[in-house]
Amino acid sequence: MKEVSLTGIKPTGDLHIGNYFGAIKPALELAKTYDARYFIADYHGLNTMKDPAELNSTIRHVAAGWLAAGLDPEKVILYRQSSIPEVFELTIMLTAFTSKGLMNRAHAYKAAVQENAEKGGDVDAGINMGLFTYPILMAADIIIFDSDVVPVGKDQVQHIEMAQDIAQAVNANYGKPVLKIPRAGVQENTAVVPGLDGRKMSKSYGNTIPLFAPEKTLHKTIMRVVTNSQTVDEPKDPESSQIYLLYKLFATAEEQAALAARYRAGGMGWGEAKEELFRAANRDLAPMRERYDAIMADIPALDRILAQGAEKARPIAAATVKRFRKAAGID
Ligand code: ADP
Ligand code: TRP
Repeated sequence: MKEVSLTGIKPTGDLHIGNYFGAIKPALELAKTYDARYFIADYHGLNTMKDPAELNSTIRHVAAGWLAAGLDPEKVILYRQSSIPEVFELTIMLTAFTSKGLMNRAHAYKAAVQENAEKGGDVDAGINMGLFTYPILMAADIIIFDSDVVPVGKDQVQHIEMAQDIAQAVNANYGKPVLKIPRAGVQENTAVVPGLDGRKMSKSYGNTIPLFAPEKTLHKTIMRVVTNSQTVDEPKDPESSQIYLLYKLFATAEEQAALAARYRAGGMGWGEAKEELFRAANRDLAPMRERYDAIMADIPALDRILAQGAEKARPIAAATVKRFRKAAGID
């Protein structure tokens, strides 16, 4: 039997090419090796997103994005966290085995407290219980599917360790393996995609290239990549230009070598380099954008795909809760 991998996707804003190369593409590769499951963590999103229209449309945008990028809902399970009520029952059960001290040590919570302390006001200002208990809900997301491996970036490793601690506390209490202990699959070498200004591409920096922008917008955005003041004639170092670093994501090895040679030879201006980047990016992104537009044009069909995923996921989730309830004496 294949091991189970679980990928959680927070519905937080417009997908950009950093998300695609850093998260979506590598996560889709998992389906080759694992019994892969993917879910939209919409109740995690609720902690920060209080505008209903925005949360609602972001959930669909992100789900459509993963499908357009190649997620095959026939081969893997894709569902919304909110469609699996067992996750929330498990969350409550896990709270009984989670020390408050463990939550106090969570990086995201600690950072929020520290930021408040530095401002000199109430240290708990703006911190809701959703943020404080975030690691417990995330542990439930993972444990409910008997997940073996959870592929995450380094920033999420602490959350996986907490899920391990909590599951171990349960197993230790009952003296048997009631819950599966997950492990983190840390993605060491995923590319950090540079943004328009050369810093890491991120929505918080406003330097993104949106993944599904119409062709014209894509072109306009790429023309905004920040460059230095080297003239057309000057030879240029490809590796220190974010235009070239972005180009590499889309171009073949031969194309990369050819363009690097043109950079080094001089005679190619930044405008032309950007056009090359646009051509390569658009070649890759156009088919994905078409699929995305088609999916978004039929939201009921998208919702049916998510509902079918939930139908596959729920019996697995129910079995875990049943096992735990039996062990706990609540059956
Ligand atoms: P943002 O920084 O735009 O807010 P998120 O924090 O929502 O993006 O990231 C969602 C996923 O995309 C995470 O797995 C994150 O590691 C990945 N990701 C985001 N930006 C980049 C980037 N510039 N390069 C590589 N991966 C990225
Ligand atoms: N915390 C993850 C993030 O910020 C999202 C997430 C929620 C998740 N539950 C999960 C990831 C379970 C993996 C498994 O990206």
